[in-house]
Amino acid sequence: MRYVPLQEAQPGMQLATEIFDSKGRTLVGTDIVLSANYIEKLMEYGYAGVYIRDELTEDIDIESAISPGLRTKGLECLRSMNIDGCMDVAKSIVEEILSKGKISLDMMDLRNFDDYTYGHSLNVAIICGVIGMGMGLGEKEIGQLVTAALLHDLGKLSIPPTILNKPDRLTREEYKRMKEHPVVSYELIKDRIDLSATIKVAVLFHHENVDGTGYPNGISGEEQTLFTKILHVADVYDALLSKRPYKEPYAPCEAIEYMMGGCGILFDQEIVDVLVKSVPLYPKGTGISLSDGREGIVKENSGEHNLRPIVRLADGSDLDLLDRENLSVVVSIAEDSVKMTLEKEEARRKMMGKDERPHIIAVDDMKSNLQALYDILKGDYTLTLMTSGKQLLKYLKENPYPDMVLLDVDMPDMNGIETAERTLKLTERKVPILFVSALRDAQTVLACRSLGVEGYVGRPYKPIYIRSEIQRILNRWE
Ligand SMILES: [Fe+2]
Repeated sequence: MRYVPLQEAQPGMQLATEIFDSKGRTLVGTDIVLSANYIEKLMEYGYAGVYIRDELTEDIDIESAISPGLRTKGLECLRSMNIDGCMDVAKSIVEEILSKGKISLDMMDLRNFDDYTYGHSLNVAIICGVIGMGMGLGEKEIGQLVTAALLHDLGKLSIPPTILNKPDRLTREEYKRMKEHPVVSYELIKDRIDLSATIKVAVLFHHENVDGTGYPNGISGEEQTLFTKILHVADVYDALLSKRPYKEPYAPCEAIEYMMGGCGILFDQEIVDVLVKSVPLYPKGTGISLSDGREGIVKENSGEHNLRPIVRLADGSDLDLLDRENLSVVVSIAEDSVKMTLEKEEARRKMMGKDERPHIIAVDDMKSNLQALYDILKGDYTLTLMTSGKQLLKYLKENPYPDMVLLDVDMPDMNGIETAERTLKLTERKVPILFVSALRDAQTVLACRSLGVEGYVGRPYKPIYIRSEIQRILNRWE
């Protein structure tokens, strides 16, 4: 079997797994042949993809992380806010993962928009279990961690779906309501004597960042418990992987890149390191591109070498990327998925209509860098995200100028320096440019600054730093 994003699903494809609705009932059964109508409906409900059966991948089996029965029970307990039931489920999850020794996170989660919070809580619990195991915690501690994860978003269940699933910007009131959910979750469990203080604290602080920019209290890494930090990492990782009405799902390798970029700012480095070793960057059954132009499906991952899977090629043969003669071949995810996400983002921005906030264009070939900028700046600015200098120049020729451009330096085709030169010429220096780049060597920084741009921010940066740089430039520009 293999995973197919719904955008690429074709009528005639045969399903390899059941698809459940948000109540846990079978929506479409195994072996059903997809019709155009089915595909359209599944998209409407908000599913991101399906597993299909075909000759090429007949022998590729993908194991789910926990047994289907336990998954159903977990979802039921979460739906009915049954805390006793959740504690039982946590115990069974720990038993299952410890008895297996190694647990596979290959299977992509098939869930729809309505199901998000329940499915998310269950996935975060499994990821926490895997991280706990990777960190060498004992059974009792892993049990507490998994319990905290199951309960962490209980406070979201009272937020109306119209806010939870809102595709565009939340109003100040709605955002405030969303940000209250860790406290609401905590309120729901704080008087239970059968739940430890460690669990309650982790639930309350699961949205705190290690640099102190999170909520509800803005506490920094030194003040956070280990469970708080693990739960935060697992929570964000699963959120990145899921499709939401306002965002496309990240591929695991993209999500990992985002997590690594946020180390020391949002996340604890040691925990992210364990996560990186525990999740498949290219899960079994997913489509990948190879640097030599070939395409294939991941057949098997080899332990910690999860950048070097065995790939099933289109002609049915297998390519083991760990073999010496194949070491020059590099894996990446299909280009299409990156483009699709950015186009959707742009469409959403247009749908939201023009607003009076400053308009900033961010250009970076890495989607995860763009997402990081977007997350930091979306509250104050209207953002347009682009992946190349060419896209930027084309946009500037056809549209009103933005208030600022954020530019990566190291990009294929046209690098940041050339893009800046051409932008300054085209706009007659009417648009300020701020470089945001991982390159920090003196030569590059000097070359960029000598163009007469407004500034240079090296990655990784503190969100507060880039915000204040942008504000400084905009103030001066006015
Ligand atoms: Fe949350």
